[in-house]
Amino acid sequence: MADVSEKIVVNKLELDILQKNIEQFKDISNQNKVLLWKDENFRIELPNKWEYSFYASIEGQIVGFAISSEKKNGYIHLHNIMVSKHFQSIGIGKRLLTAIILKVFNNNFKGVSLRVQPHNKRAMNLYTQLGFEKAKEEDDGDILMILNKKG
Ligand SMILES: CC(C)(COP(=O)(O)OP(=O)(O)OC[C@H]1O[C@@H](n2cnc3c(N)ncnc32)[C@H](O)[C@@H]1OP(=O)(O)O)[C@@H](O)C(=O)NCCC(=O)NCCS
Repeated sequence: MADVSEKIVVNKLELDILQKNIEQFKDISNQNKVLLWKDENFRIELPNKWEYSFYASIEGQIVGFAISSEKKNGYIHLHNIMVSKHFQSIGIGKRLLTAIILKVFNNNFKGVSLRVQPHNKRAMNLYTQLGFEKAKEEDDGDILMILNKKG
């Protein structure tokens, strides 16, 4: 059987794709229970959201997403990254986040920011591996992590 990771396709998220597949997006959110996103959380319009958000699919099935938008401080902020439970740990999260980072670094932004719960080891590993560093601890205990564009 062909390696399933060879079938991963990462594309820019568009409103049309989100609308057509909203149940699959919500299902991934429900499976993970880290951040329960409803329709309105997915659909909300934010600055540059559709330029800096991506989804992953395998043979037409949505298997993950990474949704970001532009903040006034010059960073692209990652609001949510999630991979379907059935397809975790095969490189999809890394592919999604790398797509955002590459686009940010090729454009006029300071870098990428995100928040993570300190006990979320899997997410922490992914972020530190891609170069994110702890910037501060928020009042609610979340860690703000930043990846700065070099140079
Ligand atoms: C966090 C998440 C997005 C990572 O996506 P993924 O596709 O499973 O991760 P990848 O396969 O791309 O792995 C990337 C890195 O994450 C880390 N990682 C992946 N699976 C891991 C596991 N089971 N245990 C520990 N670290 C793990 C590793 O550092 C890995 O790099 P490596 O394969 O070179 O060792 C995914 O696990 C997920 O959806 N988790 C639930 C939702 C969530 O917590 N989102 C983040 C909110 S801040």
